[in-house]
Order: sequence, then C-alpha cells, then structure tokens
Amino acid sequence: MKDQYNREIDYLRVSVTDRCNLRCVYCMPEEGVEPVAHEEILSYEEILRVCRCAAKLGFWRVKLTGGEPLVRRGVAGLAREIKAIPGIRQVTMTTNGVLLGDYAEELAAAGLDAVNVSLDTLDPEAFHRITRRGELSRVLDSIDRALAAGLRVKLNCVPTRGNDEVERLAALAKDRPIDVRFIELMPVGEGDPSEGVPADEIRTRLAAAYGPLTEYPGEWGNGPASYCDIPGFAGKIGFISAMSHRFCGGCNRVRLTATGFLKLCLHFDEGTDLRGLLRGGADDAALTEAVRAAVWGKPAHHLFGETAAHVEQRKMVQIGG
Ligand code: GTP
Ligand code: 5AD
Ligand code: SF4
Repeated sequence: MKDQYNREIDYLRVSVTDRCNLRCVYCMPEEGVEPVAHEEILSYEEILRVCRCAAKLGFWRVKLTGGEPLVRRGVAGLAREIKAIPGIRQVTMTTNGVLLGDYAEELAAAGLDAVNVSLDTLDPEAFHRITRRGELSRVLDSIDRALAAGLRVKLNCVPTRGNDEVERLAALAKDRPIDVRFIELMPVGEGDPSEGVPADEIRTRLAAAYGPLTEYPGEWGNGPASYCDIPGFAGKIGFISAMSHRFCGGCNRVRLTATGFLKLCLHFDEGTDLRGLLRGGADDAALTEAVRAAVWGKPAHHLFGETAAHVEQRKMVQIGG
C-alpha cells in the first residue's frame, strides 16, 4: 500500500523477541535491557494474524528479527506459516549468527529465503569485546552451515573507530556468494554516530585495496542498502549509509515490535498498539484498518542529529534493527 508520501510500503519487520544472547556495545548497555514478561510478547498466532492483515494490504516481504530471533523456540515453524500466507512471497531473517548453525537446515526447509548475519570483526578478541559475550568461531561456523543449507547469506558489519577491519571483512565476499554490507552507526540504542565510519571512506579504502567498485544498477535486496561489485568478487559489497545519505524517500517498511506495537520509523516512537486490538477482540477487518491507517501516517524521514519530538527511547534490541 502507499503511504501519505506516495511510498510503496510492502515490507514488514517482525521482532519475535526482545531478548538476545549477546550484548553488543552499540545496541544496549552492559547490564542489558529488562526483558518484558512472557505474556506481553505476541504469540505466534497473534503475529500470524498481523501478517495476514498486512498481506491483504499488499505487504509481500517479512523480515524476522529480535533481539535475536533464534532464541525464541519455534521460529522456523513461524517462518513456514508466514511463508504460506497468500501474498507473502519472501521471508528472511536478521540474526547474530550464534545459533544459526543449529537451525540453518530447519530454516531452509521451512522456506526461509535468506539470512543476514551481524559480523563486525574477524578478530576473536575484538568480537568478544564488541558483543561482550559472543564466540566468533560459532558465527563463522554458522555462516558455513547456512550456505551449505542453501540459504542466501549477507553480512551486516557496523565498523567503528578502532574496529574497522573493512578490507578483511569485505574479503569474505571474494570466494563465496556472500554480500558484505557496511552500516553507518546510527544514534539508536547506544550508538554514537561520531564513532561510526562513513560509507564514502570505506569505498575509498576498498577501492585502494581491491580495485574500482562498480555501482550495481539494478535492485538487490530489500533496500536501503546500495550495492557495488568488485572485479573478481563472488559477492557484492553493500552500504547502508544511514547517516551520510538519507534514504528515507525510498523507505518501504514498518516494524512490529515483540510486544505488538506497529512502529512506523526507526527514529520515532510513533505507531499503533496492535496488541490492544488483538487482545481486545478486534476482528480482521478492524485490525487491517488499524494497520492501514497507521502505515498511511508514516513519518517522511528520520531526524537523526536534530532536536525532534517523539524520539525513540527503545534500544535496538527492542526494535530489531
Ligand atoms: P535485506 O535487503 O533483506 O537484507 O534487508 P535489510 O537491509 O532491511 O536488512 P537488515 O535487517 O539486515 O537491516 C540492516 C541494517 O539496516 C540494520 O542496521 C538496520 O537498522 C538498518 N535499517 C533497516 N531499516 C532501516 C530504516 O528504515 N532506516 C534506517 N535508518 N536504517 C534501517
Ligand atoms: N546503528 C547501526 N546499526 C545497528 N545495529 C544495531 N545497532 C545499530 C546502530 N546503532 C545493527 C546490528 C545488526 C542490525 C540488525 O542492526 O549490527 O546487524
Ligand atoms: Fe548485538 Fe543484535 Fe543482540 Fe543487539 S540485538 S546485542 S546488535 S546481536
């Protein structure tokens, strides 16, 4: 469906849990975030109802996120059921990769189309420093197992000053069809954009190391990343230039939090409480209308770095990226 700015909104990001098995420094404080009570989290049946209503409005792609989606039991089954909804053509997942190796086969069999794995460093000590508890070898093993299971794999790298091994990370796209994406750190969660690395700087460094980057002219992925090819590389290099190139004019998504809030823009807390409707006896027509009305009012763009009302206080772990 179109929003008030004539953008086609067809991509629903569904956070299935606000819990995570890591504590990435830019995502949440060291002590973590108080997880909400189990009964406040949408059941799979409730999530499926929202997805069915969204599909009626023309949404055709769904991203499963968290927290970490794979810490919630039965996520592969949920992916299978979402994929079976008439109109839904693509179901993908964004994960930290720790548990992905254990579930890769099951997810592929359920019809999951692709996974994005977060990976900011190839140095085991730095990995542990950034995630505060993760083991790099498990994530690397998960990537192998996801590819072996036939899943398409992209990597999300958030380089920061002092942790910016962009040449080494980009090299992961050399021999295997893995797309490596560099994300500019955003002022969401604990992120301080001044610690991020601008996409143009990374482009220059990669060109110096590997030769010229050619812009990929076609559509690749679900946006907002832009992609390049490097001669001899099997995978593409992507840039999510959230700070240096505002891409909100082409935004196509809204987010459903684990507690059932339909969130309209990453930067603001505006949206609609769908859980109240779901649990208050609303029928499918009323629920669909609530989604339609909310999406119509999606904000024009973020105001990162500016003083604004309704700025999101949730941490990234409670939003799902
Ligand atoms: P694919 O094309 O399916 O890979 O989709 P994607 O880029 O939406 O996937 P992913 O969930 O891996 O998100 C990657 C990064 O983009 C995360 O850091 C998100 O926070 C960021 N991102 C996603 N959507 C938005 C958005 O609407 N605005 C901004 N500023 N950043 C976003
Ligand atoms: N800015 C940019 N990206 C972030 N992520 C988490 N917090 C931030 C932030 N403040 C990334 C994670 C993950 C994706 C879902 O969001 O690294 O790959
Ligand atoms: Fe790290 Fe993602 Fe977990 Fe946040 S939700 S701590 S970014 S793995």
